[in-house]
Amino acid sequence: MQIPELARPSVCMRDRGRVEEIIQAMQRAGPSTLQVISDFDMTLTRFSYNGKRCPTCHNILDNRKLISEECKQKLKDLLNVYYPIESDVGRSVEEKLPLMVEWWTKAHALLVQQKIQKDLLALVVRESDARLREGYRAFFDRLQDHDVPLLIFSAGVGDVLEEVIRQAGVFHPNVKVFSNYMDFDESGALRAFKGELIHIYNKREGALLNAAHFRELWARRNVLLLGDSLGDLTMADGVHSLANILKIGYLNDKVEERKESYLRAYDIVLERDETMDVANGILWHIT
Ligand code: C5P
Ligand code: MG
Repeated sequence: MQIPELARPSVCMRDRGRVEEIIQAMQRAGPSTLQVISDFDMTLTRFSYNGKRCPTCHNILDNRKLISEECKQKLKDLLNVYYPIESDVGRSVEEKLPLMVEWWTKAHALLVQQKIQKDLLALVVRESDARLREGYRAFFDRLQDHDVPLLIFSAGVGDVLEEVIRQAGVFHPNVKVFSNYMDFDESGALRAFKGELIHIYNKREGALLNAAHFRELWARRNVLLLGDSLGDLTMADGVHSLANILKIGYLNDKVEERKESYLRAYDIVLERDETMDVANGILWHIT
């Protein structure tokens, strides 16, 4: 199989033969049977750039134009408590789940208190260090050119992530987003978050709540899934009569500790890889 990107040193696979079989099956079935489901933070966006960590959607909001110094400190304290829990291999999902709900709930309550202004979002996204991964344009454009639907399924903030992809010029009509959206009052100030909270461990429930989306895509039984957390593995749980799924996982942080569990869960694990090259290599083969 001619996908040179799979020979890169960042690529690890539990079963290379199986990966090749899945890709061949998808290639035979063609792009009209394909859909792509991707996480956003640290999957479509970079984890680090020039040795510095890149922000998540929530971290982008950490800007003095939007929030007070005190709120900034509180959000940072929350991050210091909960991020190590999120990425702790020693704890089960059952143990982490209520703590993750706690993190999101507390952070969203703080943001609401700040009455964030809708019309400043574009500016703070522009000022932020958020960056889509190397090769993102080829990825988004290829999917659009071949009419392949891309679902971005994020526990981040929908308004922020849409702005990131809009400013990058890749918010094409084939892109659909499931995420946490802000609810603004008449004056354009944040008053709540809409709908059911999406956190990193309830993407399965989020998928099932959006049954209509997957019903529309019933003929697209082959799925390319991209994620960076083990919680991202359930993003395709709403897909109808799934034929083949290829799961690509970015292993960005705590690489040595988490490698084994990632290799068990994802078909392809990308170790400290800041590019979309592997996904692109596969897409060029199957579309
Ligand atoms: O798009 P994705 O589903 O990856 O978004 C979730 C990410 O947002 C998590 O990996 C988590 O670390 C991050 N997060 C954050 N601040 C919060 C809550 C979550 O940076 N308050
Ligand atoms: Mg993520």
